[in-house]
Amino acid sequence: MKITRNPFIVKGYIDKTTFCDRENELNSLYINLQNGIDTTLISPRRLGKTGLILRFFEFIKDHNPEVASIYVDIYATRSLDDFVKLLVESILKVFPEKSNVGKRFITLLKGLRPMIGYDSISGEPRIQIAYQSPQEKEHTLKSILEFLDKQSALVVLAIDEFQQINDYPEKNTEALLRTCLQTLKNIRFIFCGSKKDMMIDLFSNAKRPFYSSTKFISLDKIDKDIYADFIHDTFEKHHKRIDNESIEFILNWTKQHTFYTQYLCNLVFTLSEENIHLNIVKEACVQILMQNETVYLQYRQLLTPSQWNFLIAVAKEDEVKQITSQKFIQTHRIGTPANARRISKSLEEKELLLVNFAKKSQSYQVYDVFFSRWLEREY
Ligand SMILES: Nc1ncnc2c1ncn2[C@@H]1O[C@H](COP(=O)(O)OP(=O)(O)OP(=O)(O)O)[C@@H](O)[C@H]1O
Ligand SMILES: [Mg+2]
Repeated sequence: MKITRNPFIVKGYIDKTTFCDRENELNSLYINLQNGIDTTLISPRRLGKTGLILRFFEFIKDHNPEVASIYVDIYATRSLDDFVKLLVESILKVFPEKSNVGKRFITLLKGLRPMIGYDSISGEPRIQIAYQSPQEKEHTLKSILEFLDKQSALVVLAIDEFQQINDYPEKNTEALLRTCLQTLKNIRFIFCGSKKDMMIDLFSNAKRPFYSSTKFISLDKIDKDIYADFIHDTFEKHHKRIDNESIEFILNWTKQHTFYTQYLCNLVFTLSEENIHLNIVKEACVQILMQNETVYLQYRQLLTPSQWNFLIAVAKEDEVKQITSQKFIQTHRIGTPANARRISKSLEEKELLLVNFAKKSQSYQVYDVFFSRWLEREY
């Protein structure tokens, strides 16, 4: 049986044909690259930061194939050791050990004493680092970055989930990286993260090492008309016709939040024949909510009744500008403004509530769009 690849990706990155827009952001990243500026890329979860970085790497490959692009996702790291380990593995992916640069890199590593092994399934190099002292650790990191800096190729090094370094036991990681960065000439950094407060504090708090060292790109939702055209054209390329009413519904129901829009389109693609109307889209929505119901019910176990009630209230309002307003508090029986503030703070920390900062005002919504739709429907 021939498998038709679903063109609406819900994981990672394939190529530019399945990727929607982000032209302005690509351009800004490219300008920063040309001008020797490091970038901090922030947005709420699942809006498309990682996708954008990988799209940018493809862009670089098309326009400047001599540039080496390295991607490190440090989400799962717990210490500087883990960080160095992942960095080494990511470098070896770009400069395999059989290449000239790779060979020299391995020689350098041997001098630094990490152990190199190989994954038994993928065959990819795996690094084990057994250090004796913090000084040695710092020396290793510096040597690796200096090695990259000395290559003839310009290097783009994207570090995803960068806020993770806040949790390392080595509290000097930030200062250490900053010191390394200041002396590097040939590496352009992209620091990426979704914990807005932490990322802003890291890069724009005058008391911290990275203060004012990078340019911010704050990723927003994809423009509605552009996304609508993308959805229409992607279905059409695969010999399916979707009507405008359905596209409008998809974008509204998923609040144009990239992952959720992609996920719904992905399912509609699977469920549909040649012509797509609203009934199929709605059927897909119901299926998604049903699939996730067990998880949502588990959330309820983990939250207090007032936190749960608060989430329902926000979901029903779709978006709340002022959580302490009389109207909101009274309509949904939240209690006092102090209650509202306390509950919202705890839900923000759990990443169940998202605070959107627009230029003048801020607004609150349930972080997970599907969860929000489920709450709205069930209660
Ligand atoms: N421009 C785009 N066009 C189409 N799909 C996209 C686009 N950007 C991202 N996606 C898809 O949307 C989903 C979320 O994107 P991505 O993982 O890049 O978000 P993120 O901001 O890095 O999220 P997180 O903060 O959770 O790491 C992914 O499945 C990705 O494939
Ligand atoms: Mg990501």
